[in-house]
Amino acid sequence: MKKSDEAELSTRKVDFTMSTNNSLDAGGALESATSEASLEHARGVSAKIEAAIDADPSEFRVLTGARPTGHLHIGHYFGALRNWVKLQQRGVETWLLIADYQVITDRDSVGPMRERVYSLLTDYLAVGMDPEETTIFAHSQVPELNELMLPFLSIVTDAELRRNPTVKAELDATDGRPMSGLLLTYPVHQAADILFCKANIVPVGKDQLPHLEQARVIADRFERRYGHAKGAGRVFPRPQGLLSEAESVLGLDGQKMSKSRGNTIELRMTADETAKLVKKAVTDSERMITWDPAGRPEVSNLLLIAAQASGRDPQEIADEIGNGGGGTLKAVVTEALNEHLAPVRARRAELEADPAFLESVLRRGVERAREQAAQTLAEVHAALGMSY
Ligand code: TRP
Repeated sequence: MKKSDEAELSTRKVDFTMSTNNSLDAGGALESATSEASLEHARGVSAKIEAAIDADPSEFRVLTGARPTGHLHIGHYFGALRNWVKLQQRGVETWLLIADYQVITDRDSVGPMRERVYSLLTDYLAVGMDPEETTIFAHSQVPELNELMLPFLSIVTDAELRRNPTVKAELDATDGRPMSGLLLTYPVHQAADILFCKANIVPVGKDQLPHLEQARVIADRFERRYGHAKGAGRVFPRPQGLLSEAESVLGLDGQKMSKSRGNTIELRMTADETAKLVKKAVTDSERMITWDPAGRPEVSNLLLIAAQASGRDPQEIADEIGNGGGGTLKAVVTEALNEHLAPVRARRAELEADPAFLESVLRRGVERAREQAAQTLAEVHAALGMSY
């Protein structure tokens, strides 16, 4: 990246927050980050960002990513990835992370890491992330990013980390596994992911909002404590969460979509596998198909999947099926999904057949990320007086 770009980024004035939670003992904002009021606030901030992107996408830099824990499914795709692709297409510079270190936050075994990293990379590219425009990298390969953990850890407290509701929820989901140092501090690591490249927007689901608040707290505290010695602009912009507008789809059994429940449809599955899985989906005994998310969650979820895949309105699809029953509903869902995913799957197969290309994409992404991270770390060292 050019020097002038760098200077421009660090002096960005775009700031949509109303509150600054600066003092070390003010952990309340983190705790309440998922409350209704703060969710409303986050939605308002997101709407303003959307409008500002339309006005001038060059004001923004996006960082987002996922853990390579398995193959991506339609929940990830409709809920997140599709939106990342749109941001890229709207001209926002995008940094796309494969969060491999995060895999060991809440589990003891790493699994087939290399395979999963490449599968995630393949999914990213298959859905339309463009490696010419977007920097795709794995954070384990960027030592300068990871080194930001040290100064960042100096400005967070044990108490505020323990209050983070998403960390608590992840700990609760591990069946009595004790809290590891990495699980406790992974929001700080995530702040390093975001801040190393000076991203000012992070597209997120609401469970990630506490982490965004933590990243803002870190960015602000860094400036207060170490930043102004330099007299220059901020080292780190204040990153904002951009909430996805897509309503999240549930699994085929009406429960939360997750690989372990076997209720997902993965992007890489074939059309036949998709048809078989949809056939087994849970519906109810009522023949008349209606859009009624509260009263008929399973049927409505299938309608929502068909709607998201076809870009249509779920109510309209329900009216069309009418008395056709669950069988027709499932046929409609299968067709919508398979039609929408056909080009993604074709591209995925092509990419899978070209491991040398995938390796080169990752290599280039890591190179770019390291260049950026080294520059940021140099600024951090300068702010800390650690330039010898
Ligand atoms: N925590 C995210 C997940 O579980 C992955 C992630 C890691 C991330 N670092 C990030 C997302 C930074 C956004 C920004 O999927």
